[in-house]
Amino acid sequence: MNPITLAVPKGRINKHLVPLLEKAGVDCASLAEDDRTLVRTSQDGSVRFLLLKPDDVPTYVESGAADLGVSGRDTLLERGYHLYQLVDLGIGKCRMVVAGLAGASIPDVPRVATKYPNIARRHYGSRGVHPEVIYLQGSVELGPIVGLSDVIVDLVETGSTLVKNNLVELEVICHVSSVLVANPSLFKLRRDELHPLVERLRAVV
Ligand code: PRP
Repeated sequence: MNPITLAVPKGRINKHLVPLLEKAGVDCASLAEDDRTLVRTSQDGSVRFLLLKPDDVPTYVESGAADLGVSGRDTLLERGYHLYQLVDLGIGKCRMVVAGLAGASIPDVPRVATKYPNIARRHYGSRGVHPEVIYLQGSVELGPIVGLSDVIVDLVETGSTLVKNNLVELEVICHVSSVLVANPSLFKLRRDELHPLVERLRAVV
């Protein structure tokens, strides 16, 4: 039997994902190994893990290079992939917000710094506002501080990055968490093999 290929994000989410997978009966010892190997396998050979940058997970699953993947809903909303969203894993919980400098007055059509230009445009567009959207790759909190933007659209988890940078939440756009996604064609083709794992994950979240 071919192993199930599961695309997993490298980084901080792993500390929550590994216990969840283990509870669902997937041996994750190989994920804990601290080396640069990008393909790893569970001890019984039933699951092959691809270790990816979080934003790349949906690309691998959509292309069929992986059967299943774990992706943040923020990435799915931003880029709009053709994937089944099977299980909300309840980890990596945070919220997408609009934030600005504490006490600052915000123009009706603000300049928005963000890693999520599509989400930002949709959010403002839904009320007929078409702001200037400035795409940044990270540290977007700096935008309002140096006058690059009036607000930011970004993820907030604990809120400490906002506080540290004298920013306040102005609006919550949506709540996000990690989702188990599947390639639709492979999910149909390999349903008998994939479905039990999906059901076990559903049962433990
Ligand atoms: C994310 C996000 C915020 C921060 C929020 O950034 O973009 O900056 O975490 O977390 P908090 O509410 O717990 O403080 P990340 O750490 O991924 O780095 P980046 O700014 O370089 O994207």
